[in-house]
Amino acid sequence: MEHHGSESYFVVGEGLLAESGDGRSAARATASAAAAPPFRFSRMGPKGTGRQLGEPNRRKLGRLMAAGGGGTSGVPAGFTYLGQFIDHDLTFDKTTVMLGASVSPAQLLQARSPTLDLDSLYGAGPQDPESAKFYEADGMHLKVGKTDAADGIPAKTGFDLPRGAGSSAKAKRRAIVPDPRNDENLAVAQTHCALIRFHNRVVDSLPGSVPAAQRFAQARELVTKHYQWMIRTDYLPRICRKAAIDSVFNSGRKVFEVGAAPTAVPTMPIEFSVAAFRLGHSMIRPAYNWNKIFDDGLGTLDFLFTFSATGGDLGGGPRLPSNWIADFRRLYDFKEAGRANLAVPAAKFNRAKNIDTRLVGLLAHLPSGSFGGASSIPQDDPRRNLAFRNLTRAKMVKLATGPQMATFMKGKGVNLRKLTRAQVRDGHGGVVLDSLTTAQRDALLKDTPLWFYVLREAELNGGKLRWVGARIVAETFHRAMEGSQASIVRDPAWRPTLGPNSTTFRMVDLLLFAFEGKKSLLAPVG
Ligand code: HEM
Repeated sequence: MEHHGSESYFVVGEGLLAESGDGRSAARATASAAAAPPFRFSRMGPKGTGRQLGEPNRRKLGRLMAAGGGGTSGVPAGFTYLGQFIDHDLTFDKTTVMLGASVSPAQLLQARSPTLDLDSLYGAGPQDPESAKFYEADGMHLKVGKTDAADGIPAKTGFDLPRGAGSSAKAKRRAIVPDPRNDENLAVAQTHCALIRFHNRVVDSLPGSVPAAQRFAQARELVTKHYQWMIRTDYLPRICRKAAIDSVFNSGRKVFEVGAAPTAVPTMPIEFSVAAFRLGHSMIRPAYNWNKIFDDGLGTLDFLFTFSATGGDLGGGPRLPSNWIADFRRLYDFKEAGRANLAVPAAKFNRAKNIDTRLVGLLAHLPSGSFGGASSIPQDDPRRNLAFRNLTRAKMVKLATGPQMATFMKGKGVNLRKLTRAQVRDGHGGVVLDSLTTAQRDALLKDTPLWFYVLREAELNGGKLRWVGARIVAETFHRAMEGSQASIVRDPAWRPTLGPNSTTFRMVDLLLFAFEGKKSLLAPVG
């Protein structure tokens, strides 16, 4: 999968759901899919048969949602792209790097299941012939890339994704990482670079007494558990109401794979993938104060696509130009870690857009590389509109609507408040539905698409997921962590050792460790 998002969904018990929205058995799907089931999705709630919005309504709603506007949140903007990185980790199909190796059915099942094991960083590990290319010759460190000198800033090793394989210019640009989706825009690519650096630093910090044969495995486990701890305690509470996360992590799941054996391989609920976790699309800003050179909004979203190799062409060169290296001080707030010396003036700091029903205008005209479409698709074609795409995916898989999910969850004993029709209609500072016809508006209020519903819930709750949205996200993360090979859920006594104390490990702590706490590495452009 080159781009972010699946074209078809293999739903356990239903078969392959493709454009027609009809279930087909895996055996009748394409030869490669028939050989082994593709990535395993599942349905958390009921089917939304007969409850999907018609195409004219989806087009209109898509246009309204991606017309820009909406507020700014308090969440540092780096978390938007950390969310995208996490999504890719969850939905990574490891068979894309394992093809050719002899793979047992059990490995295949694991490879095509959602986990938070950082497969998108590690692939199938340094011993696997297909994944060895992601590693240095020592089989322990991940490869890093080098930028090209630009604007008086020299070439710098460690600040781009590794590239340079193949012979054509395009092949040379391509990142040598397991998941090319992590090169879809510069912000997610720089997040991937930070994770590479984190792993490499953890390898270097292991005591000399750890035998060579165990160093990689020990580092990977340490990295993965710290990453999960950071997601549980830092990322999730920024996007979801904390009480909802604590309830699931402390008292257990009520709706998703309840009672599953902890080590059994999890599935990915389509309600999460097609709706709730697409919340991140509303956090994307139109422009960033990217670094000292591309300051004051010059780091536009358009440029972030251009200076990547999946969403763009790195500006035409074979590597990232040095003047585009991220300034992490502008994306994360290091004052949280008591490092006021790593803070930038408030006016230079980037905050994510609010989680609400509005998306920035550029997302109505996605670059073709981001969704795998032909570049000939006209700029105004709805297929380029991310909101329309999200609403259409829901139709394709007959996704449960928001009201259906609220009723379903209540029936499972989840304490939640269902939105009233007036709340769905009016929201709070989000999309205004006046331009829909009465019939279109009635359909939307009765059968509210889950993605829209979850965003309205957030809008009405100060920009954080609540009720249905928070529950879907918290339960899916809990199950994915539980089913991961390294798991803080299955190892509740585990505590972080790389942060300031035994209960704290945030994204800022990860970055401080990775970049040695140095301004010269966190913000090399100055
Ligand atoms: C500039 C940034 C981003 C772009 C251009 C982008 C674009 C896309 C596209 C084109 C799809 C496929 C749509 C479809 O046809 O179904 C998609 C899917 C998805 N996106 Fe994004 N996205 C971005 C950021 C994010 C963020 C920040 C999150 C979450 C925090 C997110 C979560 C998802 C999820 C969960 C899916 C479906 C699951 C999958 O990856 O297979 N995206 N996105």
